[in-house]
Amino acid sequence: MKSFASDNYSGVHPEIMEALQRANHQHMGSYGNDAFTTRAVNKFKEHFGEDIDVYFVYNGTGANTLGLSALTQSFNSVICSELAHINVDESTAPEKFTGCKLIGIPASNGKINAQQAAEKIQRLGDPHHPQARIISISQLTEYATVYSVDEIKSLSEVARQHGMFLHMDGARISNAAVSLNKSFREFTRDAGVDVLSFGGTKNGMMFGEAVIFFKKETAKQFHYIRKQGMQLHSKMRFISAQFEALLSNDLWKRNAAHANAMAKKLAEGLQAIPRVTITQPVDGNGVFAILPKEIIEPLQQEVFFYVWNERTNEVRLMCSFDTEEEEIQRFLKKIKALVSA
Ligand SMILES: Cc1ncc(COP(=O)(O)O)c(C=O)c1O
Repeated sequence: MKSFASDNYSGVHPEIMEALQRANHQHMGSYGNDAFTTRAVNKFKEHFGEDIDVYFVYNGTGANTLGLSALTQSFNSVICSELAHINVDESTAPEKFTGCKLIGIPASNGKINAQQAAEKIQRLGDPHHPQARIISISQLTEYATVYSVDEIKSLSEVARQHGMFLHMDGARISNAAVSLNKSFREFTRDAGVDVLSFGGTKNGMMFGEAVIFFKKETAKQFHYIRKQGMQLHSKMRFISAQFEALLSNDLWKRNAAHANAMAKKLAEGLQAIPRVTITQPVDGNGVFAILPKEIIEPLQQEVFFYVWNERTNEVRLMCSFDTEEEEIQRFLKKIKALVSA
């Protein structure tokens, strides 16, 4: 049985594997000078517009850290949710590479709002104080909730009023697009996002993320920043071929829609079980729930998942493109049996 631990516990989607196989012949230019990279970049342009700058990197931490680096100097600060991946799950990479202070805001549903962000923008122009430069949000959030277009627009408005930028960690951007039933562009570029980490790994790729800049001037140094940040892949075609496949034939949408639908099914089943409480709206491919403490360990032995909050016995259950309905039913059956034992 597969686990509900994370969407990156899953393997690689067969269409991505085939794309890797197709890229695996003859010699080709390195560091992005190849036809796969050109085609993959064009795919992104179809979604976001011709005038974007796209750079492929290995992982999400690299995408976020370097995207933030491009927009900041070491006397700046980055405002984000307390739960943000950049704040709690990237070691101190963002701080080390940007030199910036991260300012975490409490976010009970994973989301920060415009008022909270505005309150953290203080003492601009005062050399004694970290100078706020970026508001960073995750879409989906770490609680697998989704920001609406209006919520994003109001955060970008605050950023703009203060000459700041809006960064989006889109490790699960495809799940968000499906959840909102919007094009990628509508809730990123058109909602005022300046730089975006576009996730591939959690949605069926083997590895690879993209950093996308919507303002030319912000991308100027990224060529150098990516290399200095050790995220320039020499055999770039193997990231590009994956993105080309992900953005072809709606693979991104099929995968994310399936993962989201599985999470909904799981939540529906959990709701009907006594002593189980769903703690967050199920907007994407994750379900957060409080389980009776005594059933957590025996359940984990059957199917692995992570405890999100040891104090409250809240667990995180993630679905992915390859989660099967039958596995959900078996998991629910096991919980029912343990609860009534
Ligand atoms: C919200 C979020 N951002 C970014 C990432 C990417 O992290 P990694 O550096 O492991 O690819 C993850 C992965 O867990 C994530 O959940």
